[in-house]
Amino acid sequence: MQASMLEEIVQVPNPYPIRFATEYPEVLRLCDQARELAWSPADIDFTDIREADLPPEVRAAGGEWWSLRSWMEHGAIPYGAERLREAIFSHQPIEIKQHVVNFINEELRHHEASVRIAQALGDYHPEPRADYFKQVIPRFHDERDEKQMSFFAGLAVNTLFEQLSGELLQARYENARFKSIKTACQLILRDEARHIQFGRIIMRRFFSELPADEKRLLGVKVAKKLRGSLLNGVYAVVNLPDDERQRAGRNRALAADHGLGATHPDDEVAIIRRGLTQIREDVAPYGVEIPEVPEVDRAAAQV
Ligand SMILES: [Fe+2]
Ligand SMILES: [Fe+2]
Repeated sequence: MQASMLEEIVQVPNPYPIRFATEYPEVLRLCDQARELAWSPADIDFTDIREADLPPEVRAAGGEWWSLRSWMEHGAIPYGAERLREAIFSHQPIEIKQHVVNFINEELRHHEASVRIAQALGDYHPEPRADYFKQVIPRFHDERDEKQMSFFAGLAVNTLFEQLSGELLQARYENARFKSIKTACQLILRDEARHIQFGRIIMRRFFSELPADEKRLLGVKVAKKLRGSLLNGVYAVVNLPDDERQRAGRNRALAADHGLGATHPDDEVAIIRRGLTQIREDVAPYGVEIPEVPEVDRAAAQV
């Protein structure tokens, strides 16, 4: 074999010591809860939306919306896979590995539930139709940003976003007028609550001992991710180019008006602002400061 070929083979690091002793009992408890509260999207009956009397453009808007939701949930899977690899080869105890495995499994069922909703509405898109979105979604997560943070700090940053998504999901749950969509949102929310809980546990455990540099970096990463991808149509349409903002915004409004579990574009920034305020309050005691996010913070000044 040529030397250049050999270089491409990824070396599997030494897995030993494989630790089993419980180091984080609170995380272990979350793992137990995850087992007790397991569910399957295949058990949800989507007949109500399949048979609902909805105009074709509303079905199309709902299909687009839930496809976007499904891509977002899917984005958490490669992220989780990287964290699992790190957890294994940095010799984390079993409850940390188990939590990451649960996380991957749960994000996968959120993805599946979203796809099933889009399909029942009649229109699942395996990839974005708008060119702009084709570029945005793959950039949603950047491993280079992740690798600049320590393992636990990175996990904590991720869960801050889970908190924001949780706020938006709550609004979608409240918007949903169909039983199947409401059930799916509720079950997803219940999983997300555990993901957020995990973040709180590791924040308490690790944030106070982080060096000042890393604390600053964390705040910067949160603001960067929020501005760079999440406000670009993922959480809100505010940073989209004009024509796409109008198109995506109109469809979201249509889906929301018909109770398909969407957030109205006019409400998104206010929800994110509340979430961001909460996050700032949560991390402030640890000396982590999240820089200004003009699209969100300045909108606050106008209200
Ligand atoms: Fe999720
Ligand atoms: Fe999650």
